[in-house]
Amino acid sequence: ATTLGAAAAQSGRYYGTAVAAGKLGDSTYVNILNTEFNMVTAENEMKWDATEPNRGQFTYSSGDRILNQAVSNGKRVRGHALLWHQQEPGWAQRMEGSDLRQAMLNHVTQVATHYRGKIYAWDVVNEAFADGGSGGRRDSNLQRTGNDWIEAAFRAARAADPAAKLCYNDYNTDGINAKSTGVYNMVRDFKSRGVPIDCVGFQAHLTNNAPSDMRANLQRFADLGVDVQITELDIAGANQANAYAAVTKACLAVTRCTGITVWGIRDTDSWRRGENPLLFTGSGAKKPAYNAVLDALNAG
Ligand code: G3I
Repeated sequence: ATTLGAAAAQSGRYYGTAVAAGKLGDSTYVNILNTEFNMVTAENEMKWDATEPNRGQFTYSSGDRILNQAVSNGKRVRGHALLWHQQEPGWAQRMEGSDLRQAMLNHVTQVATHYRGKIYAWDVVNEAFADGGSGGRRDSNLQRTGNDWIEAAFRAARAADPAAKLCYNDYNTDGINAKSTGVYNMVRDFKSRGVPIDCVGFQAHLTNNAPSDMRANLQRFADLGVDVQITELDIAGANQANAYAAVTKACLAVTRCTGITVWGIRDTDSWRRGENPLLFTGSGAKKPAYNAVLDALNAG
């Protein structure tokens, strides 16, 4: 196959990208989007600050633009993200306790209901675990509403959109380490108690290398009975093409790794733009990393 999406589809997988609504008028950007990718994640437009800027007042115009552009071009959509301690609207940042608990569950219900039936998978909760060696939760006003806030969010999302797969998503969880083991233990607990969780996203914001145990890490999660996906891939550094190939192969080696999403199209579209971590140059040319990914997908 000659495109990323078609090459991934040979094994029943998808190849996606993050999309910014403000770039949908850029013809170079849209041409690459429509040619290469068959899954889309809104980079910012479905987050809490974007969708509920004032309490109880929901705005979906930018998220809908991304969704409609994707669907009308035959692509599916990953929802990102219902709850995250960053990009909370100011009114929620100032809340705590049972008020916040009610507001956050209402947010999950309203947004998942608005997009009901249109989302392949939702990142229900994003980045709730602490960095470092504790393996525990990150402190945030969401966490301070009670340790069961994550399962409450997953239950609310399932009730609002029973067809969407429900994912937990995080970074620095790509290899086997204390943080990924903390997430692993939560997923194992959720599966044992019937909390609705279907998938785990591994962001994979990397430099130079994929963790050598990335395949083993994806596999141990898959063995819990969830799908896994690479959700925000970008890789800086001189070994970029090899590292992209390694991430691709790690996913292809795990049956339940259902797809890969890169976090933007051209280097100039990236949140790490100074590091040129993506598959296309600023002018839209394919980089060696692009060819490494395409070759790995075609070989798999
Ligand atoms: O929309 C405003 C604009 O009105 C304003 O003039 C401008 C001035 O700074 O800011 C614009 O908002 C920015 C927004 O991106 C849209 O461009 C925010 O400042 C900026 O903070 C925001 O950054 C996003 C970041 O999440 C926020 O934490 C990045 O685009 C986005 O790529 C990044 O994505 C996250 C994932 O959601 C979760 N995992 C990590 C990943 C990278 O940080």
